[in-house]
Amino acid sequence: MNIAIVLAAGSGTRMGQQKQFIMVNEKPLFVYSLEAFDFHPLIHKILLVVPSNDVDRVSSFLKEYPLRKMVGVIAGGNSRQESTFLALKYLKEKNVKDDDIVLIHDAARPLVSQKIIEDNIYLTQKYGAVETACKAVDTLVISKNNQTVDHTLNRDEIYQSQTPQSFLFNLIYQAHNLRQGESFTDDAGLVKSMGNEVYIVEGDKYNFKITTPTDLDIFEAIINKR
Ligand code: CTP
Ligand code: MG
Repeated sequence: MNIAIVLAAGSGTRMGQQKQFIMVNEKPLFVYSLEAFDFHPLIHKILLVVPSNDVDRVSSFLKEYPLRKMVGVIAGGNSRQESTFLALKYLKEKNVKDDDIVLIHDAARPLVSQKIIEDNIYLTQKYGAVETACKAVDTLVISKNNQTVDHTLNRDEIYQSQTPQSFLFNLIYQAHNLRQGESFTDDAGLVKSMGNEVYIVEGDKYNFKITTPTDLDIFEAIINKR
């Protein structure tokens, strides 16, 4: 079984509002990723995580929406890591199997492609833990106090991380369980800290994260061109 966890419980500090609920072409932003997973034939179930105050509102909204694979709308936590762990604990209670695959995705990446989804599934079947990432295209420099201190980073070895990040259920559940209280920015980092290898799935530029109002402008321009 392949289960998508869509994380939409953030507060949108950099956007200045809860970006997951912004309407773009008459659809809230979080629905774009739900539709991408719902459409993919290899995805069986979708679990959505939203702020605790929005669980009821979002659940009733989705009842009217033609999605086939939703299995729940649950409350997230104070950090992305907490929201993910709450989703994993919910799934554990629903008796998911240790070797089921979970794809953990930011609702703030509405343009995730069908290819990225299926590459995540196939490579998780093979390696157990994967993260979507794109090779850096710009030259990267390290700076301190507005001065550059290093230009020698090897661009071929540097990737920008995206989502989904996907894992065998037991692996990611145990990692979260053991690392509670320690802070990680993403699930791949957490799994890596346990000594597990994480394989890269090639992402793409469209799968960027909507973080600021500028990103929203870019997203709207892309949607309106399609
Ligand atoms: N997220 C979550 N629970 C949290 C924090 C974040 O489910 N407590 C989700 C967000 O809704 C988003 C994804 O994780 O889809 C990536 O997070 P980010 O882009 O940082 O979104 P926000 O945390 O909402 O934005 P900001 O950091 O600017 O406050
Ligand atoms: Mg955040």
